[in-house]
Amino acid sequence: MFLCVKRSTMRLVLSFVLVLAIAYAKPSARGLDLARLTRSRYDKIDAAGCGQRPLAPGNGASEVALRIVGGQEAVPYSHPSICSLRYTTAPTHHFCGGTLVKNLAGEYYFVTAAHCVYGEPRASRYEAHCGIHDRSDLREPHRVIVHFSALTSHPLYDDWTIDYDIAIFKVSTALPTNNYISAVCIPNEGWFEGEKGIVAGWGTLTSGGDSPYKLHQVQKPIKSRATCEQRYGAGSISLRMLCAGLPQGGVDSCQGDSGGPLYTLRENRWTLTGIVSWGYGCAEAGRPGVYADVIELKDWINTVINRL
Ligand code: ARG
Repeated sequence: MFLCVKRSTMRLVLSFVLVLAIAYAKPSARGLDLARLTRSRYDKIDAAGCGQRPLAPGNGASEVALRIVGGQEAVPYSHPSICSLRYTTAPTHHFCGGTLVKNLAGEYYFVTAAHCVYGEPRASRYEAHCGIHDRSDLREPHRVIVHFSALTSHPLYDDWTIDYDIAIFKVSTALPTNNYISAVCIPNEGWFEGEKGIVAGWGTLTSGGDSPYKLHQVQKPIKSRATCEQRYGAGSISLRMLCAGLPQGGVDSCQGDSGGPLYTLRENRWTLTGIVSWGYGCAEAGRPGVYADVIELKDWINTVINRL
């Protein structure tokens, strides 16, 4: 709490200094500095039209209203921003999830977890399968195999603490935007305790168990950072992490869901609030799933996708 106040006060002071600096700067320099420096977490850094789920009844809003225990198969193709990440050398093997976003110029990027790409920084070694429901059915009509021209892992990613667990690919394949493939929204506001998140993925149904062929999803509430710290121990939950789960467990992401989305529905737009990162086992009581906290990583995302 103290930290938050301090950060926001700092931001206020900094913006004031910035406004003064801009006011006294040469007019020619203003436009660029303004665009680059005054973007805050309330500003939009991605393309309009994001966050729609045309094939989910009512844009999927009822999925947030419902309380879903355990997981369930998703409505086929109802999460058009999720894709399955693979190595080009093993294109039938799903190993992580990821989510499509679009920058302000309308170009596609693919957001995943840094731990998914740790040890192999070459973008050309990866591909994502988008527009799919059954991860193994290579003949699904809407499947598009997406290739990448660049891969940027967060420079502060720490493989021991799993802090800053985010990586972004630049998509080089020409991609349509349709009912089956489209971008999620980047959040403009922080999450709140109790906000309902939906995680989707092809990860295992139990810890160490089997992965389903068809996309699954589960709903669970976001926990406060304090509660999560209590569960995992002091110092284990950084500001770049958020937790979600029920006290009694039973609802969670699991192995193979990593890199994929924890969505929240904001003003009827599906928003990438978290990225599946880690947990102790899966769905255990008192062990919420831990996600990279996208709002806290937004400035970095902005610099990568809008090339500031
Ligand atoms: N690290 C796992 C992966 O690589 C994801 C773990 C998520 N665990 C959890 N309990 N929510 O797929």
